[in-house]
Amino acid sequence: MTTSFPKSKIKVLLLGGIHKSARDVFHASGYGEVELLDKELTEQELKSRIGQVHLLGIRSATRITPEVISKARKLLAIGCFCIGTNQVDLKNAKLAGIPVFNAPFSNTRSVAELVIAEVIMLLRDIPSKNFAAHRGEWRKSSKSSYEVRGKTLGIIGYGHIGTQAGILAEALGMRVLYFDIESKLSIGNAQPVATLKEILAASDVITLHVPGGTGTRHLIGLNELKSMKRGACLINASRGHVVDIEALASLLRRKHLSGAALDVYPEEPASTGERFFSELQKFENTILTPHVAGSTLEAQERIGREVAEKIVLFSDTGSTAGSVNFLDVTLPSHSGKHRILHIHHNQPGVLAAINEAFANAKVNIAGQFLQTDQDIGYVVTDIDQRRGLELRSVLQEIPGTIRTRILY
Ligand code: NAI
Repeated sequence: MTTSFPKSKIKVLLLGGIHKSARDVFHASGYGEVELLDKELTEQELKSRIGQVHLLGIRSATRITPEVISKARKLLAIGCFCIGTNQVDLKNAKLAGIPVFNAPFSNTRSVAELVIAEVIMLLRDIPSKNFAAHRGEWRKSSKSSYEVRGKTLGIIGYGHIGTQAGILAEALGMRVLYFDIESKLSIGNAQPVATLKEILAASDVITLHVPGGTGTRHLIGLNELKSMKRGACLINASRGHVVDIEALASLLRRKHLSGAALDVYPEEPASTGERFFSELQKFENTILTPHVAGSTLEAQERIGREVAEKIVLFSDTGSTAGSVNFLDVTLPSHSGKHRILHIHHNQPGVLAAINEAFANAKVNIAGQFLQTDQDIGYVVTDIDQRRGLELRSVLQEIPGTIRTRILY
């Protein structure tokens, strides 16, 4: 069967050691030209290569600047094989008609598992016993060691990670409370709590799973830490700025809190090997991990698969479901039809001009899907006749057009 553009000629470039599960997805979907590089490319290197690439996969260290986008003549989509997407100039990518995809939930379970491990470690006072044993001190005592069964875990931010942590904690016999600014469906026997203050006062361990940003900056400050039970523990694997570290240090010093586990910090080293400094390094009853809560091989494998599948779906059908910068258009299969994708600046008259072109050509429209936002419009039209190529060249000339593609 002939296709609009042979998949074997679509060039896929995957940078920065993306898991090979991504390449497997492309191969299984018929994409033959997949280059998987372990290294990142500099902006200069990327600028010189991007003109020949149709589908690009990056991780968090590769920056996609407006200059890179301006050279990406053939680029159809960008996959961020990670959670964050702020390394990409999303607005310029959108204005160039390039959707960007990521994997927001692939490492949810990895974070939840680490949190549960930390709940156990903190309640058993393992961090300081571990430090002592490394120094040769034998602290064989049950003092400050508790089982988790029957204790209360307070989850602040009951989203993807918060709910998973709750399920695992219940399996260990913990009572689970949660506080969220939105009304949430309780999973298992978890109980919602009306205020932040209430959950802080009622929990033996507090774990934070809120988003970053100004809305949650210092959500847990001095007053909130003082509201926690005497002897309780705090876990933060969300974002560094959510906790006021000085206030936390002061309450650990005063022994109001018995321990803390942190995976994220207000200032983090930019790369592996750089020195890490934190006020909390002074305390033996803390677990400090280098922002690895979501970093497991399983999560990497899942991220590889999830992002590659989204890109393949877009490349094969035009569906932008799950894109972070683009209009969300989910499309049915178009077998037996020609599908024409038209991305344009959102200006008056474009849709009318598109439909006029179809009417003039006397083609029957089998289905049409349209989404607009303040910047762009995305129109997908399925036609019965095999006249997509001819029509595409007409649509390309409509003023305001950013890109057109034809799929069959
Ligand atoms: P999510 O978006 O599924 O859930 C966040 C929840 O927090 C939502 O239910 C929201 O309504 C709630 N929320 C927002 N503001 C709140 C407030 N002021 N008080 C109470 N609840 C509030 O997010 P997800 O996927 O569960 O991620 C949670 C956090 O974990 C994010 O900050 C994310 O960046 C971080 N994360 C950290 C990783 C690591 O390696 N340490 C890996 C993955 C995510």
